[in-house]
Amino acid sequence: MSLRRSLWRLLRAVLFRFDAERAHRITVSLIRWSYRFGGGHLLRIASGAPAVSSQSVAPSGECEVFGMRFASRVGLAAGFDKDAEIVPALPSLGFGFAEIGTVTPRPQSGNDRPRLFRDLERQCVFNRMGFNGLGAAVVAKRLESVRDRLPSAFRVGVNVGKNKDTPLEEAARDYAAAAAAFKSLADYIVINVSSPNTAGLRSLQAIESLHPIVDAVKEAIRGAKSPPLLLKLAPEVESEELARIFAAADRWGVDGWVLTNTLAGNREGLSGGWSGKVLTELSRTRLEQARAVTRLPIISVGGIMDADEAERRVRLGANLVQIYSGWIFGGPSFPVEISNRILIKNTEIKG
Ligand SMILES: Cc1cc2nc3c(=O)[nH]c(=O)nc-3n(C[C@H](O)[C@H](O)[C@H](O)COP(=O)(O)O)c2cc1C
Repeated sequence: MSLRRSLWRLLRAVLFRFDAERAHRITVSLIRWSYRFGGGHLLRIASGAPAVSSQSVAPSGECEVFGMRFASRVGLAAGFDKDAEIVPALPSLGFGFAEIGTVTPRPQSGNDRPRLFRDLERQCVFNRMGFNGLGAAVVAKRLESVRDRLPSAFRVGVNVGKNKDTPLEEAARDYAAAAAAFKSLADYIVINVSSPNTAGLRSLQAIESLHPIVDAVKEAIRGAKSPPLLLKLAPEVESEELARIFAAADRWGVDGWVLTNTLAGNREGLSGGWSGKVLTELSRTRLEQARAVTRLPIISVGGIMDADEAERRVRLGANLVQIYSGWIFGGPSFPVEISNRILIKNTEIKG
């Protein structure tokens, strides 16, 4: 076993002794501290990522999606860095892009703790966070202050949602307000209508609810250089409904898809969403079903727990992949491991 893997096993044994949310906060602090004092060097030692500068990125994994260069096809999924705390450190951790958020227009505290759990044996994570975050104005300011320091092909997407206390009928206003704050900062915007942890949110996946939200967000980000607009759906949206949503969204001018969010379920009587291995097959199936009905770019996320699965997703037509649970269990070298596997050219991807 490599020294890097042995050190990770050791660190993981320590981190996993803490409650999952506490371990998350410790990890975020460790990353921030390492970046601040090591300038990315310490993180690159941990991840195996090549050196990056603001001008150049490792050429190996680069690809073009939405007419933009991406440093690699591997990104960090929404929910890990909700408030853009560690964005400048992520290139040194081997990511080619990151999706921050979900960001809501106003700050909110989320559900009561405990609200995050891991299951090492089953390689799953269960969360019922409920869009805790600092709100769009603060996060946008943060992102603005670091944008210039990022490598040119490192992309930042912003995932937006609605506040808990906003009635579902007024959801479009919230999505538009959150997106507007990132109009000139985000490389892409994601409308998240698929979190199971905000009451009624998933009902917004119905075509008649989705249409006004898409229209409002498109209007809010209209400008000289409007970022591409993506929709993130739940894994429970089945093939036929998926095709209906895709056909409608095509007419509305949606630019791409993030498939999928967590699988709704229960744990010890509390409802929330499952991530990780439990999602692998379902998320892969949704990718295949989506690829059969659209040529638009797809970001595949859900249960990518090893490099084989990441490669499989790209071969099935994913333009980009994201990881969350796989990183938690696989450790700091996981993004680089995957990136090195999926050096697949655009021309080889179905679409
Ligand atoms: C703790 C936690 C928080 C999450 N928060 C969000 C979120 O705020 N917005 C969102 O769109 N997805 C969120 N997700 C879902 C992930 O982005 C991803 O879709 C899901 O975890 C499946 O990927 P995985 O199996 O690699 O973890 C969250 C996931 C976890 C585990």
